[in-house]
Amino acid sequence: MTAHSTGKPRILTGDTPTGRLHLGHWVGSLENRVRLIDDYDCYFLIANMHAFTTRADQPADIRESTLEIVKDWISVGMDPEKSTFVLQTEIPAIAELTWYLAMLLPFNRVMRNPTLKTELETKELGDNYSFGFPMYTVGQCADILIFRPELVPVGEDQLAHIEPCREVARRFNQLYCKVDPHTEDDDHVKAGGLFPIPEGKVGRVARLIGTDGVNKMSKSLNNAIFLTDTFKQIKKKMGKMYTGRESMDAPGDITNALFDYVRAFIPDEGRVKELEDKYAAGDNIGDGHIKVEVAEAIDRLLEPMRARRAEYDGPAGDEKILQLLRAHTAKANDAAEETLYEAKKAMQLDFGRRTLSFS
Ligand code: TRP
Repeated sequence: MTAHSTGKPRILTGDTPTGRLHLGHWVGSLENRVRLIDDYDCYFLIANMHAFTTRADQPADIRESTLEIVKDWISVGMDPEKSTFVLQTEIPAIAELTWYLAMLLPFNRVMRNPTLKTELETKELGDNYSFGFPMYTVGQCADILIFRPELVPVGEDQLAHIEPCREVARRFNQLYCKVDPHTEDDDHVKAGGLFPIPEGKVGRVARLIGTDGVNKMSKSLNNAIFLTDTFKQIKKKMGKMYTGRESMDAPGDITNALFDYVRAFIPDEGRVKELEDKYAAGDNIGDGHIKVEVAEAIDRLLEPMRARRAEYDGPAGDEKILQLLRAHTAKANDAAEETLYEAKKAMQLDFGRRTLSFS
């Protein structure tokens, strides 16, 4: 691992501001970020430029979501005092690096990305997507590499983006930094490469089922419990979950969605085991009871998040977020400009040194 100026290895990860974050994001990635925040030099990216790849006609909505996502982050414990928030549209080095990396990725390789394909289907984009839409996957490589992180904690669906990022980093190091093609990934920096080959890291629940009990949790499928939901909303959503069970005395299937929730959200392992045993035995324990117990556990998890978020309510809250983003932009640009300078130098594009100012 390379040590940066803080002496800690680096993390880069982020989210596209598409709306409020939910429990799927928490178990898939946010929880990892909070857990790792003291041991890593963390950069958290708000991919607001990427938001335009599918919603170029909705700038007001994107602006609002941008502030909302920062509130979500702070509320879960991604402490802005201990990390750097990166507002993608104010870090020009990202867009610039995207161009150079685009030259190192075959077009067909970009279009084969399974996450991109899934998005084209679920968003029903057909043949009408913009040129910028597939370009975002190259942009994502630049988002990551411009900060030269070792680790990228993401949800399972994002792993398909990490692979091309690793490929393009190897390619760059080989082409422009004379790293031998046989070099192990972990040794690239030691061998003179500019970019560490970053690793993806998925959270403890890779794919949380939604409250319908069937599909992956997703805002667009209407089966999400949001981090801002009240106890009443959580209880109502849990109450509707399909479990496939017919009666309280019939042995229950502890691999159903409800028990995924029991294991994901009830922190007391003894209690989890007890519920599993009773349910499997058909020992007079109803789905309704367990759903309420899960709802209570989720509520306890979300309670401190709601409290932290309340500090950013209203226009004054928005202003605090904007100030924070401005302050963090300077630091993010320092790191990004440094990498871009090194990258251009490796490419024999060192014609001078520029400085950015932002206010
Ligand atoms: N594509 C990610 C998402 O939609 C957001 C993202 C953009 C990202 N750039 C990134 C995530 C870099 C990790 C690393 O959630």
